[in-house]
Amino acid sequence: MQRFFVASCLTLLAVILRSSDTNALHVIGGSVKVVQGGTAILPCYVTDTNDDLTQISWQRRTRENPRNYIFFTASYSDGDRPQFFNEQFKFIGNFKDKNGTLQLLNVTLKDEGSYTCIFTLVPSGNQKTEMPLKVFVPPFTSVKDNLPTLGTEEVLFATCTAVGSRPPAEVRWLTGALADRVRTTRNYIHYDNGMTTTVSSLFGVPTGDINGHKVQCVISGDSLSKEETLPFTIQIYFSPREVNIKAISGDSFECVTEANPNANFTWSRSGQSLLQSAVRVEGAKLQLLNLTSDLNGLYQCEASNKYGRKHGQLYVHVPSVSPTEVNMKAISGHSFECVTEANPNANFTWSRYGQSLLPSVVKVEGAKLQLLSLTSDLNGLCQCEASNTYGRKYGQLYVHVASAASPTTVEAKD
Ligand SMILES: *[C@@H]1O[C@H](CO)[C@@H](O)[C@H](O)[C@H]1NC(C)=O
Ligand SMILES: *[C@@H]1O[C@H](CO)[C@@H](O)[C@H](O)[C@H]1NC(C)=O
Ligand SMILES: *[C@@H]1O[C@H](CO)[C@@H](O)[C@H](O)[C@H]1NC(C)=O
Ligand SMILES: *[C@@H]1O[C@H](CO)[C@@H](O)[C@H](O)[C@H]1NC(C)=O
Ligand SMILES: *[C@@H]1O[C@H](CO)[C@@H](O)[C@H](O)[C@H]1NC(C)=O
Repeated sequence: MQRFFVASCLTLLAVILRSSDTNALHVIGGSVKVVQGGTAILPCYVTDTNDDLTQISWQRRTRENPRNYIFFTASYSDGDRPQFFNEQFKFIGNFKDKNGTLQLLNVTLKDEGSYTCIFTLVPSGNQKTEMPLKVFVPPFTSVKDNLPTLGTEEVLFATCTAVGSRPPAEVRWLTGALADRVRTTRNYIHYDNGMTTTVSSLFGVPTGDINGHKVQCVISGDSLSKEETLPFTIQIYFSPREVNIKAISGDSFECVTEANPNANFTWSRSGQSLLQSAVRVEGAKLQLLNLTSDLNGLYQCEASNKYGRKHGQLYVHVPSVSPTEVNMKAISGHSFECVTEANPNANFTWSRYGQSLLPSVVKVEGAKLQLLSLTSDLNGLCQCEASNTYGRKYGQLYVHVASAASPTTVEAKD
């Protein structure tokens, strides 16, 4: 036991001595990490030597070429114009300072491997150092909504994915107040090229009160320069619930429901088409433009989204009125108008008692009568009939033109 201990101490001492023997000379390298597409610096230089440097060369081995091969040499006679076997590399060291540093442009996964820098020195001979080059690939990150619908069983709400990361990315959910109402899982998918896809799923019971809660997916790892946070709002989808029709004013109505996504509304009229000229439809709103009994009937509002549809009904009843008392209004000395109230509006017909209306002496336009020339031929009783589907009423106008053509009197009689 004792002897063994002494023996190992001696070997240790020998090792230390041997290394301090050549301690004068160091080849310094490094360990390099770079993000795919970026630029890597492969540092290498010699210190503590007065030897002559005759050549600097680099070799590497990678996944594709597992045996070391030389891809760069620079000899003293080249000066600072070294030979490259690969245009991706750029010599940024300098011979005079025994600095063999290289730059590697546009790093790809294929460049990952082990790099050896070799100095040929006189009289020491070849001195080298080996360094690893690690290539990081940041992932593509996303959150996908699984569109859960209202229910009582646990379902998948969403998945958060970091695709193609190297080294593997960590994906986790920050669920805050919902922590004890949701569950998360995590899976890694490893690919042959060394990339990993990480998927984290968020599960829970899709109740109405969980709808609208905000959570976050956090992606981290060496492949990302900084942690990435993707916000997500939990949405529970459902078809339109009960449809209510609300009166906005005497002639305007609105269809109201709850749905996610918001419902689309369609108004229709039971048994016939909507009269485009008599109603105006704007989304959930229906406006009756002319309150006539023509509009009477059953109207239906359909609320729908991709999960279903519900209907609401509106019964329109505009009371119908037959023409009320007919009044004769003088518009001017020889123009008169027949006035009444009716629903639907009344039609007017003028006639002359005992004889026909002479188109050469009177002009009729709906409720209006105009006497064109004031001659005694016009004398007599004119009658206006106001009618609609529900009834009719009459008004009378007594015309008397003095035979001398002037003065003229015209009397209205109701
Ligand atoms: C070697 O060269 C690189 C690139 O020019 C430089 O950054 C580095 O400081 C040099 N090292 C030494 C020890 O001179
Ligand atoms: C980097 O390499 C990729 C793949 O080899 C290539 O598509 C891209 O054009 C290169 N970019 C530059 C700046 O060389
Ligand atoms: C509605 O009333 C307006 C004015 O009151 C009228 O111009 C229009 O023709 C009416 N439309 C229908 C369909 O009755
Ligand atoms: C609702 O209306 C929008 C816009 O008009 C349309 O893109 C969508 O497809 C409609 N949805 C349904 C369920 O009809
Ligand atoms: C009123 O007149 C319109 C147009 O001339 C006609 O279509 C309608 O049937 C008439 N209504 C009545 C009650 O006579």
